[in-house]
Amino acid sequence: MNIELISLPKIEDYRGNIAVIEKDVIPFEIKRVYYLFDVPSTAKRGGHAHKEQFELLIPLSGSFEVQLKDGNEEKTVAMNKPDKGLLIKSNVWRELDNFSSGAVCLVISSGVYDETDYIRDFDAFITYKNKL
Ligand code: TYD
Repeated sequence: MNIELISLPKIEDYRGNIAVIEKDVIPFEIKRVYYLFDVPSTAKRGGHAHKEQFELLIPLSGSFEVQLKDGNEEKTVAMNKPDKGLLIKSNVWRELDNFSSGAVCLVISSGVYDETDYIRDFDAFITYKNKL
């Protein structure tokens, strides 16, 4: 599957830890940063794939799960460590759910917001992938 788990460089300290994103930690040029917060525990976010854009998801606070599908494989990734990111490359269907109270999901994207890069219908995604 077109994903990678990325360990962010961190500086551990008895006063608290620092995770740093710089230089080659992310394998793309950052064009956009957004975050999900105040997500109800029963809500599902995502529910789409990107044709080109890459996204790195980081659970800054709390936890959630990412359900991934690419037409061949299905995976669930538990996100609960602020120094562990999930890189989702192009053409992977993702759904985010099981948000804990206070969870914050930071998303670092390779592209600016562009609705034409989204596939929001699962069957259309499978059709699109099969034509690649
Ligand atoms: P959506 O992509 O459905 O959110 P998610 O995948 O995280 O569940 O986006 C919800 C709405 O917000 C939709 O109308 C598009 C808009 N939006 C922007 O305008 N800019 C952005 O960077 C993002 C991520 C969403």
